[in-house]
Parts: sequence; C-alpha cells; structure tokens
Amino acid sequence: MSKFSTISYSVGSLLFLISCSFSIYYGYKVITHDLPKEQKTVEKYNYHFVLVPEEMDNEYWKLVEKGAKDAAKKYGVLLEYAGPKQANIDDHVKTIEMSAASKVDGIMTQGLSDEQFTPLINRVVSSGIPVVTVDTDAANSRRLAYIGTDNYYAGYLAGKALIADTFGKVNVAIITGSFYANHMQQRVKGFEDAVKREKRINIIAVEESEISRVKAAEKANHILQEHPEVTAFFGTSALDGIEIAHVVTKYHKQKQIYIIGFDTLPETLGFIREGTIHATVVQEPYQMGYGAVKMMIDLLKGNKVPTIVHTDTKIIRKSDLPVSNQDRKAVDK
Ligand code: BGC
Repeated sequence: MSKFSTISYSVGSLLFLISCSFSIYYGYKVITHDLPKEQKTVEKYNYHFVLVPEEMDNEYWKLVEKGAKDAAKKYGVLLEYAGPKQANIDDHVKTIEMSAASKVDGIMTQGLSDEQFTPLINRVVSSGIPVVTVDTDAANSRRLAYIGTDNYYAGYLAGKALIADTFGKVNVAIITGSFYANHMQQRVKGFEDAVKREKRINIIAVEESEISRVKAAEKANHILQEHPEVTAFFGTSALDGIEIAHVVTKYHKQKQIYIIGFDTLPETLGFIREGTIHATVVQEPYQMGYGAVKMMIDLLKGNKVPTIVHTDTKIIRKSDLPVSNQDRKAVDK
C-alpha cells in the first residue's frame, strides 16, 4: 500500500468512526430495508416500531394505522404496518416473529389467543423487545401494556341496547369474528351476561365469520334459513353487522329483524341511516393506534405507563347521527 493510500485509508476510517459515534450519540438509527422505493433514502428516526394487525386490508385497522402513523410522525418514530392482508393466524404470528428477529424497538399487536399469542409475546419480551397489545389483550402474557376497548363491557352494552330497543320475545343469532380470539369471546360473554336474566330473549345460534365478509354473509343466510324464528342479530366484529344487513336487505326484506353491530365504518353508518342496522358499538381505533405509539415511547424512556388503558365505548343509534344532506332533502320534500 502506498503512503498516500495508507493516509486516505486512515482518514476514511476516522471519518467513518466519527459518523458512527455521532449516530450513536444522537440515538439515531438508519434504515434502508423493507421500505417502499420512494422511502429508500436514508432516514433518521428515534425508534422503529411495528404495528401488526390481524388483517391489514381492513378499514377498521386502517384507522388504527392512521392513529399510529400520526403519533409516529409527531414523535420521530419509523412505523411499519405489517401483517396478513386477510386474517390468517399463521401469517400474523410469523410477522411478529420476523419483527422480533429484525430487532425493532417495539411491537404493537393483538393478543388474539392465550394458546398462540401468550408464549410468543413472552418470548419476544424476554428477548428485550417491549410488546404493547392493541384492540385485543393477552392479559396473562408479559406484554407491558394494553390499549383498547374493554371488550367484555362492550358486549354487555350491546346486550343492554338490544333489551332497551326491543319488546316481546326475541330470538337472537350471534355472528362473531372468531370462536378462539379473546376479544370476540369477551364480547359474546358480555352480551350473554347482559341478556341472561331477560326471559323474553333467547340466543339460538352463535356462528363464526373468521373476519371474512363472505363467511359472515354465508352464515347470516344459513341462520335465516335454518332458524326462521330469528328476529335479531348481533355482529361482534366490524364487518359482521354490515354483511348481516346486506343479507337481510337482499333476501329477507319482508322480515322484521333487529340488527346490532360493531364499529362505525361508513357502510355501518349508512345502514343505520336507512334503518337496517339499529345500533352499533362504538370503538376508538384511531385513539388505540395513537395511544399505543405514545405508550411505547414512554415505556422505552422508562416513564410510568398504566398497564391497561381502556378507550371509550358506547352505543349509537340513528338518532345519534348528524342529519345527512340526503335526510335533509327527504324532509324538505
Ligand atoms: C375488532 C378487530 C377486528 C375487526 C374485524 C373489530 O371490531 O375490534 O379486532 O379485526 O373488527 O373486522
């Protein structure tokens, strides 16, 4: 090696070391992988978090993502939104494992079932990566905190709403997102407990939609054929009520069916406005996403964070919705 190249080699190494120590000193990390092309430039951020929902292409989860992204922008966090496009436990678990393997600073996800998620969350936490559960808690795991609806209470509210809105004998069918997921079990249990002392109300079928629109519609149709005595439905996840409403308006219009759903997606609100869905349980997905990012930052900074943060839950009906332009025109006519 010539004298000149030795010098330039040493200067280069020195500059490299200086720039590394600056990065470490300022706590910045550099990421250039797994990002969309336009973001592939070197970026600076304070933390790298991953939000793993059970279904990425779901309007409800897009609201959680929006909240998380807004908080991430405000606090200098690189936030990845990754997981199965359509609900799939294996892909969900794999995404959490991969995020842990790539040593992100924090993982926000649902604690869907004790069987599959508790040991996984425990493993991730013992590897030094904090986990915050969002929307669905794995209360028996070592997750550091939960933010989301009190799912038992939300189901209980739905049961009370059905009691308040109906009279005489009511035969209810429940379509739930999953028989195995903690939040769905809690919503169904809350509902059952709310109606159990009401003699006039009978739950006659409980079916599973697997968080799929097609399955929810199939199950609703099947229930109406098998149990023509059904007079009410409770849909426990965001798409269930919508699909029950589609089936009822398409094939069973002549029947008087009471429907109570979950969440306030635009389609649900549309069905409430036209009177097909009678009530829905409000959740705060944006707050969940925003709050989860803030909690994670606080945890990493060593600040005290409450173990459980319940976001607001309430019931709304048509009378609670602002009057739409369409309704206004109909009244004016
Ligand atoms: C639940 C989510 C679920 C979604 C499915 C919501 O009510 O809170 O956990 O993924 O419904 O559409």
